[in-house]
Amino acid sequence: MSDQPTPDAMTQSAEASSSDNLATRQIRIFDTTLRDGEQSPGASMNLAEKLEVASALVDLGVDIIEAGFPIASPGDFESVRQIATTVRGATICGLARCAEKDIDRAWEALKTAPQARIHVFLATSAIHREFKLRMTPDEIVERAVAGVRRAASHCDDVEFSPEDACRTEHDFLCRVVEAAIDAGATTINVPDTVGYTTPGEIYDRFKMLRDRVPNMDKAVLSTHCHDDLGMAVANSLAAVDAGAGQIECTINGIGERAGNAALEELVMAMKTRQDFYHCQTNINSKRLVPVSRLVSKTTGINVQRNKAIVGRNAFAHESGIHQDGMLKERTTYEIMSPEEVGFTKTDLVLGKHSGRAALADRAKQLGMTLTGEQLQEVFEAFKELADKKKEIYDGDIVALVQQKISETVAPEWTLVDYEVTSGKNQTPNVRVTLRRDDQEFTEQVAQGDGPIDAAFWAVEKITGIQVVCKDFRVRSATLGRDAIGEVNLEVEHEGKTYRGTGVSTDSVESTILAMLNAINRIVAGVASDPGELPQP
Ligand code: KIV
Ligand code: ZN
Repeated sequence: MSDQPTPDAMTQSAEASSSDNLATRQIRIFDTTLRDGEQSPGASMNLAEKLEVASALVDLGVDIIEAGFPIASPGDFESVRQIATTVRGATICGLARCAEKDIDRAWEALKTAPQARIHVFLATSAIHREFKLRMTPDEIVERAVAGVRRAASHCDDVEFSPEDACRTEHDFLCRVVEAAIDAGATTINVPDTVGYTTPGEIYDRFKMLRDRVPNMDKAVLSTHCHDDLGMAVANSLAAVDAGAGQIECTINGIGERAGNAALEELVMAMKTRQDFYHCQTNINSKRLVPVSRLVSKTTGINVQRNKAIVGRNAFAHESGIHQDGMLKERTTYEIMSPEEVGFTKTDLVLGKHSGRAALADRAKQLGMTLTGEQLQEVFEAFKELADKKKEIYDGDIVALVQQKISETVAPEWTLVDYEVTSGKNQTPNVRVTLRRDDQEFTEQVAQGDGPIDAAFWAVEKITGIQVVCKDFRVRSATLGRDAIGEVNLEVEHEGKTYRGTGVSTDSVESTILAMLNAINRIVAGVASDPGELPQP
C-alpha cells in the first residue's frame, strides 16, 4: 500500500465563495493529458513519448498524473506500469471501471509507484443508467461501493467519479457520493462528462454536495470539465470557488471531442487573479510554454495562434495604440508577462559553434530532457543542420528532438538517400533508398502528381505497405527561408489511422521521414485510434 496523505482539510475548508473567504487554499492539479487527453482523435502517443510527457509534467509541478487506463490495451497497461516504475515526484494514477478485473489490472500497473492512486468510475445520470448500463439506482450504488472497496483493498488513495455527475439528480448524486466515501474513496471527482453545465449551475452543485453529504469532509472534492460549450475552464473555476480542492485538466485542453479544461489557463487564472480566487497551486508557470510545445509536437495537435497563455499570439501586440501604451508602461495592455509563462525574450539561441552542453541546456528549457544517447544523436543532427543554416532557433531544436523521439517507434525502416527531379509539365522522377535490418532497398519511380506524390509511391513500393493519405500538413518550424519544414500526416491502413512526423530543411525529405514514421507505427501496431474498449 502506498503512503498517501489523507485529504487535506485545508483544501476543503474554504467557506465556498472567493469573495467571502480570504485564506489562500492549495488546489491540487490532476493532469489527465496522458489519459483523457490521449483520447483526442489522432492524439495517441507511444511509450517513449508518454514517459517524456510524464517527466515534463513532474517538472511542471502537477500533483497527480493520470497515466492511462490499464485495462484498455496492453500498450496502455505497459505505459502506466513504466511511468509508475520510473517517474518520481507526483502521484501516479490509473483509471478503472467499477469491475474487479479492471481494478486489479490497474493496481498491477501501478503498484511500484511510491504514491499510487486508483481512479474508479461508474455512470450515475438517468440517461446513462437507463440506456448505457441498464441498471437500477440501487444496483449502481452497490457496484460503486464494491468498486471503491476493491480499489481500497489495494491502496489508500482511491478516487471515485460518478460519470455524467453534472446531469445526475441531486438526491441520487448525494446518495452515491456518501456511499463511495463510506466505502473508502478519498477523492470524489464530479465530472461534467458531456460539457453541458454552466458556471452558476456547477457552483450550486458543488455547494449542494458540501452542504448535504454528511461525510463530505472526509474526501477532497474534484472537478473535471469538458469543453463542448467552451466553458470548461470557467466551470472548473466556479467549482473551485464553491470548494473544490482538485482540478482535473490537460495541457492545451486536449481531450475527448472539444477537449478538457486547459491546465495553463486554469493555473494562470488563479495566479493572475489571486486577489479573487485566493488559491495557489504547485505549478511552476515558467514551464507552461515548454510543456505545451512538447504536448503539441508529440500529439501532432497544433496550438491555435490566439490560444490563451501558450498561443503564439498570446502576447503579440499589433495595434499601434497598444504598442505605444506598452512602450510607456507594460501593464497598460499586459496582465501577465510572457516570461512568467515560459516564453523567452528571444528565441535565437545557438549556432554551429555551440556545444553539447548548450544544446542540452536549451532542450531542457524547452521542456525536453535528453538521455545521454538521445543527446548524442540530436547533437549530430544539430551539427548537420548548423552546416546548412546559420542560425538555429528554438523551433529548430524542438523539431530535431521530436524527430529523434518519433524515430524511437520501432525504426524498422530508415531513410538512406533520395533524389528527385521534377519540373513544370514534367513527370516527377524519384529514387529512394531505405534500410531495414542492415539491408538496403532502392526504388526508382517516374509517376505521380508532383515529387511528393512520387515519394509516397516509392516508399509504398519498397515497404510493401499501402496507405491512404487522410491529412497532410506542412509548416515551418522557425523563421527564415532556410527554416526547417515540418510535415505532419495522417494515413489510413487496414481501417486504422496512423500519424507520422518528419522534419528537414527539404520538404521532400520531411515527407519521406513522416511517411516512414507512420509506416514504422503501422509495423509496431501503434494506431492513433482509441483503444478497443468503449472509452469513458
Ligand atoms: O469525462 C469523464 O466523465 C471522465 C471520467 C472517467 C472521469 O473522463
Ligand atoms: Zn473526461
